[in-house]
Amino acid sequence: MAVGVFDSGLGGLTVYDACARRLPDVPFCYFGDNAHAPYGVRDADDIFNLTCAGVERLWDEGCDLVILACNTASAAALRRMQESWIPEGKRVLGVFVPMIEALTERKWGDNSPPREVAVKHVALFATPATVASRAFQRELAFRAIGVDVEAQPCGGLVDAIEDGDEILAEALVKSHVEALKRRMPRPEAAILGCTHYPFMQNIFQQALGADVSVYSQANLVAESLADYLTRHPEFEGPGRESKFLTTGDPASVSSHATQFLRHSIRFDPA
Ligand code: SIN
Repeated sequence: MAVGVFDSGLGGLTVYDACARRLPDVPFCYFGDNAHAPYGVRDADDIFNLTCAGVERLWDEGCDLVILACNTASAAALRRMQESWIPEGKRVLGVFVPMIEALTERKWGDNSPPREVAVKHVALFATPATVASRAFQRELAFRAIGVDVEAQPCGGLVDAIEDGDEILAEALVKSHVEALKRRMPRPEAAILGCTHYPFMQNIFQQALGADVSVYSQANLVAESLADYLTRHPEFEGPGRESKFLTTGDPASVSSHATQFLRHSIRFDPA
């Protein structure tokens, strides 16, 4: 059985790549909703409907376990999906919990009550829709108390990264970090809460300063998936080749994806 990876576009390939390296025997099916990306500027209903459609497509591929690599979908749609939409036997996981478990030094899957943690001041960089949802703060409050989160909506950054405009992307990172630091001068940790931002991790780190711990999700999600599959072997099954689907133009998405990951990837029409 393949594990589904849902994303609004190409950024989720960072998560797919880390998962595929960590779990080389697990087949994956990646769904990129490139025709509707970016999600970060859409309203919550729109994000919910698009995410459900993509997840259903992955279920049709036999992926009973789906990871929402897209932070915006995890933030704006996941809770609503889990409360009222996901049928028995299927599982949809987001990307915030693994980051929060790492930030709060909890074991994967630890559901004990919230407690005081070492980190007190956290900067969150994310899309406008993710910031507006306050999903990160809500999930954090289930696990930790006394943590101050300052969130910075990074308008324009996803588009600049997708367009390969490195000069604009760097300028945007610096100005978003400056804006956040005016409200929280000394964060101890920073969360890169968007699939695209790991491509700018060095620039975030430089702008924030070497003493700030920067959490980028791909490896954390991969570790947490490995642990989840150990605890839920029912989602593992006989392997097959990984598969890549897109709602966009497969030729152009394949060429962008190959540049992103620096190895050849072929997308088929979703
Ligand atoms: C987007 O679709 O706007 C970015 C993806 C993300 O939030 O991770």
